[in-house]
Amino acid sequence: MKTLKIDISKAGIELSADMKARAQAANALLESGEGAGNDFLGWVHLPSSISEADLEAIEAAAAKLRSKADLVVCIGIGGSYLGAKAVLEAMSDPFRLLHKEQSAPTVVFAGQNISEDYVHALMKAAEEHSVSAVVISKSGTTTEPAIAFRLIKAALESRYGKQEAAERIVAVTDRARGALKTLATDEGYPTFVIPDDVGGRFSVLTPVGLLPLAVAGVDIRALVAGAREMEAATGTGVPFDENPAAVYAAARNTLYEAGKKIEILGSYEPQLQYVNEWWKQLYGESEGKQGRGIFPASVTLTADLHSMGQYIQEGERTLFETIISVASPAHEVRIEAEADNLDGLNFLAGKRISEVNRMAELGVQLAHVDGGVPNLRVEIPAIDAHAVGALLYFFERACGISGYILGVNPFDQPGVEAYKKNMFALLEKPGYEEATKAIKARL
Ligand code: PA5
Repeated sequence: MKTLKIDISKAGIELSADMKARAQAANALLESGEGAGNDFLGWVHLPSSISEADLEAIEAAAAKLRSKADLVVCIGIGGSYLGAKAVLEAMSDPFRLLHKEQSAPTVVFAGQNISEDYVHALMKAAEEHSVSAVVISKSGTTTEPAIAFRLIKAALESRYGKQEAAERIVAVTDRARGALKTLATDEGYPTFVIPDDVGGRFSVLTPVGLLPLAVAGVDIRALVAGAREMEAATGTGVPFDENPAAVYAAARNTLYEAGKKIEILGSYEPQLQYVNEWWKQLYGESEGKQGRGIFPASVTLTADLHSMGQYIQEGERTLFETIISVASPAHEVRIEAEADNLDGLNFLAGKRISEVNRMAELGVQLAHVDGGVPNLRVEIPAIDAHAVGALLYFFERACGISGYILGVNPFDQPGVEAYKKNMFALLEKPGYEEATKAIKARL
């Protein structure tokens, strides 16, 4: 497996035969469909089942949106947002908006919050651009994206007229159910389907992730190819020691059972910051239930060594960390010698920035291990679409295995409903009259 390597040699653990067997059994459940939540296993063979026709349809819809707009607003939340955001940030030049020439439309996100000021700023900025929209909701009833879409739809219709607005909107939603599906049918929006058996947080390789990424110019074929390679590398026929997802799942459960309740995912490449966010949702929603689960946290390094570094080094010893290590940067920048050497940095002259970054990574790893923080290392060759596709599938597969080892249903999320009931009661939604009275009495 060239795409990704896992190293647990600095975790301070031995994986027991029992834990290895539990990981292999958990992985087999993902294939056999005999485990909990088995109606949501569509993601397991998703990479290998995406067809040429699927990719062409996505690319054609993306090309149409690109041809019509220089700003594409992607509306969605949770699993209908984080995958696209994570890959887009990973693959993009962080200073892309400063370039005078733009090779692809700017993709921005909405519906991932209910901030009035955020929406106001977006609508204001949108006035200066030609705009298209992708609205993504599996249930088609999620409040945050529904509010954002109502506003964007009204703005597009008032600017372009109803018919042209419908040419500029694509919906990604359930095959048959939900308010968004009804709306898309009534308004005649082109629609992509989120398969019934793929839950939101596992949906990045469906049109949920692939359409916005294709709009942004990401090579979705390479992304899928990387994921497909990882699907093969983590299948049930693969021996435990050669399956990075099984090793990762076994290692994190071994650490959890030894009292390490918090996992910090970090990277020394700031472009991967939203991969952390995507991972937090994936693992938090999949494992945090029944009073169990590793709390997923994240850091971006070296920046967070100057904020969270103290805690990681010397705080409560309930942490372990997983570092996504990138073997090769895409570009070369060297530090030059300076005659005066006033900053004392001439000892670095001639070195690449990445050599300094690597020494920071290795130095921090040993310091944290010495401080009682076990370290897992996931190495990818580079930040490119192929490697990122493999990384996403690796984390998904490991999450399914890990959740089954933990003994939970990794594919449901009953806890996310609790706040919605309160919010609807406070907003006096019809049907919530009793709940409204009860909750107002508690305020
Ligand atoms: O993982 C999940 O299932 C959730 O995070 C959902 O993706 C999120 O709540 C958005 O749901 P929907 O796509 O139905 O609007």
